[in-house]
Amino acid sequence: MITARTVVAGVVGQPIGHSLSPVLHNAWLAAAGIDGVYVAFAPRAEGFAAFVEGQRGGGAIRGVNVTVPFKEAALAAADEASARARLAGAANLLVFETDGRIRADNTDGVGLLAAFDEQAPGFDPAAGPVAVLGAGGAARGAVAALLLAGTPEVRVLNRTLSKAQDLAIDLGRKVAPSSLAGARGAFAGVTAVINATAAGMAGGPGLDVPLEATPRDAVVMDMFYKPLETPFLARAKALGRRTVDGLEMLVQQAAPSFEALFGAQPPGIDVRALALKAMGQ
Ligand code: ATR
Repeated sequence: MITARTVVAGVVGQPIGHSLSPVLHNAWLAAAGIDGVYVAFAPRAEGFAAFVEGQRGGGAIRGVNVTVPFKEAALAAADEASARARLAGAANLLVFETDGRIRADNTDGVGLLAAFDEQAPGFDPAAGPVAVLGAGGAARGAVAALLLAGTPEVRVLNRTLSKAQDLAIDLGRKVAPSSLAGARGAFAGVTAVINATAAGMAGGPGLDVPLEATPRDAVVMDMFYKPLETPFLARAKALGRRTVDGLEMLVQQAAPSFEALFGAQPPGIDVRALALKAMGQ
């Protein structure tokens, strides 16, 4: 039941109709018996700043998760940001304080590492070099999370080499940029390969990289999860590599977001199963 005390939070993106975040958060709210609701907002691309500024009045929306294409704009709109959000250059969480201030955070990085813990137990991000495919916003977030977790070297491979080089200039000397053509050499000795490119979405064949050049015990992760088993993950599995899927990252980033928005830890219900059902899998 919606009451005069119902806490309103949500997710902002464009498009947003297929977001799984409302499924996760509302299931947690119901199970925890919290008087709250989590809805989806889709402002016009040029309307995002006005949407955020409109929350400075206080007493309206408690906060929002932020997704494509607004994560960088969310960081820019905030008055203060956590170190991890600044390093990622993006925010996936905005909290609207009652005094009108806006705080930005980024829980994608902890979500990424928690997904490894869940699906590849024993993986240690500090144990050796990791390869990240892509150099867009998603890749930058992954690189930032790895650096904060102590990864000694992050090899960033991108179709457009200059973008990988720009990312390395931004994030420091532990980042080694190369083109996708250099994948065979870059995969030698890695503990993990993380796909942060959009290739393979929407039924495409996925990135054609020589995963067989990775060590046998390397973990292969895909940040994208539509379908849950991407062609990239299917190839890794066929090679006998342990894999981590992007849906687990989504679930794991949602937990600290829920805590920030509703002030309680999410209850231990199987929201991954609910998300899979909502995806029709
Ligand atoms: P996001 O914020 O989701 O990371 P983005 O900033 O548009 O999105 O970045 C998309 C990434 O996917 C880029 O690294 C892009 O490579 P380029 O920089 O060369 O464009 C990569 N990408 C997209 N489609 C790809 C494809 N078919 N093959 C290889 N890389 C691809």
